[in-house]
Amino acid sequence: MSTPSTVGHPVNLMDPELMRDPFRGFSRIRELTPVTRAAFPGQSTPIWLITRYDDVAAVLSDHRFVNDPANVPGTDAPNVREELLRVRGIPAEYARFVLDTVLDADGHDHIRLRRLVSRAFTARRVQELRPRVEEISDRLLDALPGRAEDGVVDLVEHYAYPLPITVICELVGIPEEDRPLWRGWGRALVSQRRGAMTEPLREMIGYIRGLIARRRAEPADDLLTGLIRAHDEDGDRLSDDEMITMVLTLVLAGHETTAHLVGNGMAALLAHPDQLAALRADPALAPLAVHELMRWCGPVQGTRFRYAAEDVEIAGTRIGRGEPVMAVLVSANYDPRRFDDPERLDITRQTDGRREVHLGFGHGLHYCLGAALARQEAEVAFTALPRRFPRMELAVPPEDLERQLLPAAWRLARLPLRLD
Ligand code: HEM
Repeated sequence: MSTPSTVGHPVNLMDPELMRDPFRGFSRIRELTPVTRAAFPGQSTPIWLITRYDDVAAVLSDHRFVNDPANVPGTDAPNVREELLRVRGIPAEYARFVLDTVLDADGHDHIRLRRLVSRAFTARRVQELRPRVEEISDRLLDALPGRAEDGVVDLVEHYAYPLPITVICELVGIPEEDRPLWRGWGRALVSQRRGAMTEPLREMIGYIRGLIARRRAEPADDLLTGLIRAHDEDGDRLSDDEMITMVLTLVLAGHETTAHLVGNGMAALLAHPDQLAALRADPALAPLAVHELMRWCGPVQGTRFRYAAEDVEIAGTRIGRGEPVMAVLVSANYDPRRFDDPERLDITRQTDGRREVHLGFGHGLHYCLGAALARQEAEVAFTALPRRFPRMELAVPPEDLERQLLPAAWRLARLPLRLD
């Protein structure tokens, strides 16, 4: 593993060992130096990693940090994501659609963008969607045995992905026949090869532009039609480019992450039969189980970069104005100062009035907009799957499950199961 910055070298965020086990890797770094320099290969500006639970929660709710480096006063703070996209060979004309999202906005801009879509994701709206989520899940489960080859079925491909893709596409208004396109684009986006993201981005942007034109001509009962009609209270319309960015953000954020919560979580339950048995015996534990699985094997390793708008001290380290930081969610969620015996999976652990304690959905103003939806999809998955296939088991030992090695995400490449 790369040496933490105590001896002068920034942590390499693409270190295969760190990507293979970010929970333990970042935990080791946390115990050596809670605020540490890190960098991606080929990137010039080092990033501060924040790794302790309390510091992560504090940074994410501290108004002295901003998400858009242009909002750092009096300095040309480097835009690290822009630099990373350049390193990956993505032309600026496409990069802007992933750089100017709701997650990259501060203050009034952020509130305006978030408010335009937040109504679709409230706890009540999500609760209303539950029967439909169950129906989609049931349909996928009906088809699952037919997907098996030599008695083995890949749950990631045939359930964990199609469930959230179908849900978010229905919500946004992407027609059923076009959904496989999104699966393909999502797959292409994770390639780390230089330039590999350009073509899928170009196609996605063109696709959404065409869909906006179709919905303008033929309005429907979906989020995109709502956005087209949208004014916020000041009559503030969204431009076409902002709409494209929002749809791209919602569809990608809405399925890639949830798919891997379902995949990682199901693998964890199958590798801990006592936990799976407890959940099967009492399905009312599902909300707590989802909190714990988000903590134990959540799919997002760290947040977007934040930039210090002024000099800030964290855990005795001075972060200079304009310097980027990343809050490392996976190490916060394994911090023994906050969680007893953090490596133990215990689906009954997070009982603080059923309040969510882990930080896997972030914290503060940018807390995940889709958290209620993602939790519900995972609850449906973790109860429906073991009910339908009570003898289901991993087709390979848990330590042999193949992972996609990515710097910001924690994902299974596939989850091979025997259903009975
Ligand atoms: C923000 C994780 C599902 C939409 C975030 C953040 C995290 C996160 C960590 C905060 C990032 C930061 O502060 O830098 C997850 C995980 C999910 C999930 C682990 C699934 C298990 C979803 C879904 C949607 C969604 C289903 C669909 C709408 C968003 C949006 C934001 C966000 C729009 C930006 C919010 C803002 O900037 O105000 N998510 N997410 N996410 N998420 Fe999720």
